[in-house]
Amino acid sequence: MSENFKGQAILVVGGAGFVGSNLVLKLLEHNPREVVIVDNLLSSERSNIPEDARVRFIEGSIAEDKILAQLPPTLDYVFHLACYHGNQSSIADPIADHDNNTLTSLKLFEHLKSYRGLKKVVYAAAACAVAEKTYDAPSATTEDQPVSLYHDSPYSISKIIGELYGNYFFTRYQLPFVKARFSNVYGPREILGAGRWRGTVHTVWRNVTPSFIWRALAHEALPLDNGGQTSRDFIFVEDMARGLMACALRGKPGEVYNLATGKETTILELATIINRLTANPTPPDLKPARDWDRSGKRFASTTKAREQLGFQAEVAIEEGLRRTVEWTGAKAETIRRAIAKHAAKMREATARHAA
Ligand SMILES: NC(=O)c1ccc[n+]([C@@H]2O[C@H](COP(=O)([O-])OP(=O)(O)OC[C@H]3O[C@@H](n4cnc5c(N)ncnc54)[C@H](O)[C@@H]3O)[C@@H](O)[C@H]2O)c1
Repeated sequence: MSENFKGQAILVVGGAGFVGSNLVLKLLEHNPREVVIVDNLLSSERSNIPEDARVRFIEGSIAEDKILAQLPPTLDYVFHLACYHGNQSSIADPIADHDNNTLTSLKLFEHLKSYRGLKKVVYAAAACAVAEKTYDAPSATTEDQPVSLYHDSPYSISKIIGELYGNYFFTRYQLPFVKARFSNVYGPREILGAGRWRGTVHTVWRNVTPSFIWRALAHEALPLDNGGQTSRDFIFVEDMARGLMACALRGKPGEVYNLATGKETTILELATIINRLTANPTPPDLKPARDWDRSGKRFASTTKAREQLGFQAEVAIEEGLRRTVEWTGAKAETIRRAIAKHAAKMREATARHAA
């Protein structure tokens, strides 16, 4: 892979974020000329940006003309990972979601349409926006799964709109647009509480894996919505970064690829592994289903990515979680500081919820 990114100019939008910063680190291993990061630090911390002479950080929203005007006049690869994180925040503030999850894609693609020599634009699409809603035994979600017109969150709508706009710019202007449909990513550099307050306690409790690890390290009970019967396809972030790079190098413009493991893990299984790795003696707290979440059980088909990109996830969940627990312990102070920023808002939100 090294030769293909060597000497290249690469833009990573959302590059300070969890997946984005892991991707930047992996790209730097392959000797690019320049990696430009655009990020407004809405759901990320500046500390995630690698200190490296080849990295240029532009702070601001990619939806702003003054930020777009600072991009290099030529680029080889673009990775678009900016979003308004996440489902619950988008329900609390759909307009903020529109500004940072929909408008961002449109403004970026409109700007890039006149770039000549662009090799690939890789978009972070979401498998959750297309997966079938079922609590029965699921079948693997394939890339050609029909897309519903009924979505549970503005976030999910925005992720689909990003695909639609990218497809439009591909057919109309030959933008070399490739969609990477992410399953659930976990791993180092996902900082609980990263960025600014986004209206709900999920600003801190961003995702199930880092939240469970943090709580388990404190020997707290892990809350299992719906008794932990929900299942997901969990992919380690370094595998995801490799998958994104495979999309850039070998993805066919106009195409979509699942980046996943093809394995289903229930939240109860996830909690059990995490409790074991952290020696958490407190049993899980079984809870009812969340009102907005009808996503049920799912995992993704990996056939197309394997056959057409030569991509396969390599890190098994036990090993990935072990590395994530280790990272969380090492970065506990950074995480504690990021969580503490939101202490007052968290108290208000928790009191509102209880009232
Ligand atoms: N992590 C997952 O499990 C998962 C699953 C499906 C899809 N995705 C997609 O992958 C991408 C990365 O997700 P993540 O988990 O790393 O989240 P993240 O919140 O860590 O990263 C998103 C980044 O986008 C930045 N951002 C927000 N608005 C912006 C704007 N207007 N201009 C520039 N930057 C902006 C944020 O500050 C943040 O750094 C997102 O597009 C997300 O929708 C992630």
